[in-house]
Amino acid sequence: MLRGFLVIFVLCTIAIIAVFGFRGQISTQPPLEVFPDMVRQMKVRAQAPLNFFADGRGPRLPVAGTVPIGYEMPKPQTAETQAPTVDRWSHPQASFSVGTDYYDTGKMGDRWGTGIPLEVTRELIERGQQRFNITCAMCHGAAAMGNGIVKQHGLATVVSLQDERIRKMSDGEIFNTITNGKNTMMAYGPTIIVPDRWAIIAYLRAVQRSQNAAIADVPEENRADLDKPAENKPPEAKPAAKQEAPKK
Ligand code: HEC
Repeated sequence: MLRGFLVIFVLCTIAIIAVFGFRGQISTQPPLEVFPDMVRQMKVRAQAPLNFFADGRGPRLPVAGTVPIGYEMPKPQTAETQAPTVDRWSHPQASFSVGTDYYDTGKMGDRWGTGIPLEVTRELIERGQQRFNITCAMCHGAAAMGNGIVKQHGLATVVSLQDERIRKMSDGEIFNTITNGKNTMMAYGPTIIVPDRWAIIAYLRAVQRSQNAAIADVPEENRADLDKPAENKPPEAKPAAKQEAPKK
């Protein structure tokens, strides 16, 4: 009994002294560090020598070809600039540039502009389809309905791009959303080059139209076909017929 008390008493005394006893003492020894403090670590000090590198210099020059963040790439000054073609995408300077014109910002003066500043060709739209499916569809869905796979896995705020609001939104504002992101959507400016952003918008417009088609979109000579039973439909009825077979 007494021994138990003594052991506890001694332990408590040691603990109290350990906590309060040595406060305010000055020592030239480095303090005890269970996890080493970050001030004492291997690191390069500005303008200080370092024997890690053969030349003994700590600070290094950037790797050749390094582009500083925010650097405005020189724009291609070729005939292509004036009459952009699909070659823009393989152009070595096909760019992420941030100029101040409509093509680079989506803004005309201080308002969002609208219109695709590239020639809208089948190639452009197909390029846009490919890019949309790679960079947008996982969130917004292949038909831009806002039901991409990412939404089912937690990003609940994904919106449908088939909304009236987005259908009426100017191309320039959508360009800006792609470039800089919006609320919970991150920016795709750093990963999608400018002509691809426009290609995506051109394709998105086609997708929007496909889901909001009016009778006026059907050429008059084909309207009668709409009432016909779907004889040209792909043979999707067949798998159902197959399923019946095992039941027998
Ligand atoms: C990682 C998921 C994700 C991807 C990929 C994505 N978006 Fe979004 N997008 C969102 C979310 C989330 C919102 C809703 C933002 C908010 O909270 O208002 C949104 C909103 C938008 C809007 C509406 C902006 C507004 O003004 O309300 C447009 C337009 C849009 N996205 C276009 C695109 C296009 C085009 C792409 C492909 C280049 C794309 N998004 C890729 C998640 C994504």
